[in-house]
Order: sequence, then structure tokens, then C-alpha cells
Amino acid sequence: MSNTTVTPDSFKAAMRHFPTGVTVVTSVREGQPRCVTVSSFASVSIDPPLVLICINREARSYLYISESRIFCVNILAGDQGQLARRFASKMRDNQFEGVAFETGQTGAAILSGCVAHLECEVAEEHHAGTHSIFIGRVVSCASRPGSPLGYYNGAFHDFGIRID
Ligand SMILES: Cc1cc2nc3c(=O)[nH]c(=O)nc-3n(C[C@H](O)[C@H](O)[C@H](O)COP(=O)(O)O)c2cc1C
Repeated sequence: MSNTTVTPDSFKAAMRHFPTGVTVVTSVREGQPRCVTVSSFASVSIDPPLVLICINREARSYLYISESRIFCVNILAGDQGQLARRFASKMRDNQFEGVAFETGQTGAAILSGCVAHLECEVAEEHHAGTHSIFIGRVVSCASRPGSPLGYYNGAFHDFGIRID
């Protein structure tokens, strides 16, 4: 616990101990939809309603979000681990083949079966190391009962078990 040398491996090892929810962030550019699995999602402000996501600027999805300035955060349900794996892989084309979705008011895809979604317009983009922090103003959102998918120590979990 006293090691002070920060390497990519030690940083990743530390972060693996932090459990997160799992989202699929969708966007659209020149009529082409795109999505990516994202766990770096957080609420920022209630009034105005703001959220943030952090996206690697080398990810294909980066330009979709940066140029279209819209995105939708789909919070995955506990039984949607397959979608999380699918959209974390380097798929070039046909990302949406066989995936049920509807198109939201921003033009981004709202995936079926998620526990919640938040459609956003990009309010700010900040470069931070390898990633960009996008702050999105929420223009539409909805939720339904259900347990969320979680990610911890490199594995997916159903986070629906209450312990208190
Ligand atoms: C559970 C999980 C969470 C992830 N969270 C993020 C994230 O917050 N930001 C990010 O840029 N990539 C994240 N990734 C990695 C991307 O999903 C992955 O690099 C993807 O292949 C990028 O696809 P693209 O280049 O087609 O956009 C995550 C992957 C997993 C499995």
C-alpha cells in the first residue's frame, strides 16, 4: 500500500477496485449512428441538469460526439452485459445489427431494455490527458424499474442486490 510510483498498470490496478455502473453512449454523425461502452459517467448539476462522460480521443466515437455535439447515455440493465462487451470491442461497421433501439429527439439511439437514458447536448469539452471530458446538458431523460449492470475488478455484475 506504500508504493508511490504511478505506472499505467498500478493506476489501472487501483481503479479496478472502484465499482461503477455501465452505460452505452450513442451518438450520430452525418446520419451514421455510433455507440461505445462507457463507465466514466457522473451527474454534475441538477439545475441546470448536467452530466459528464470521459471519452478517449482515439476512440472512434470521439469524433461523433465532438462534431455532432449530441450524445445519449443509456444506463444498462443487469442482463445487458452482452451489449457492454459488444460496444467495448473495436467494431468498425454494423454496430447496430440485431440491436433494438429507437431514435431520440437529438437523433441519437435510445437502446431498448436499459434502466434509464439521458439525451444530452454538449455544453463543454475539456481535454484531459488521453481523454476528453464532455459535459452534457440533459434535454430529455426517462427511467424504468430494474437493476443496473455494474463493473468491478474487470468483470460485469448485476448490481440489483440491496444489502441494508
Ligand atoms: C466496462 C467498460 C467501461 C469503459 N469505459 C470507457 C470510458 O468511460 N471511456 C472510454 O473512452 N472508453 C471506455 N471503455 C473502452 C471503450 O468501450 C473501448 O475502447 C471501445 O472499443 C472504443 O470503441 P470505438 O473506438 O469504436 O469508439 C470502457 C470499456 C469497458 C469494458
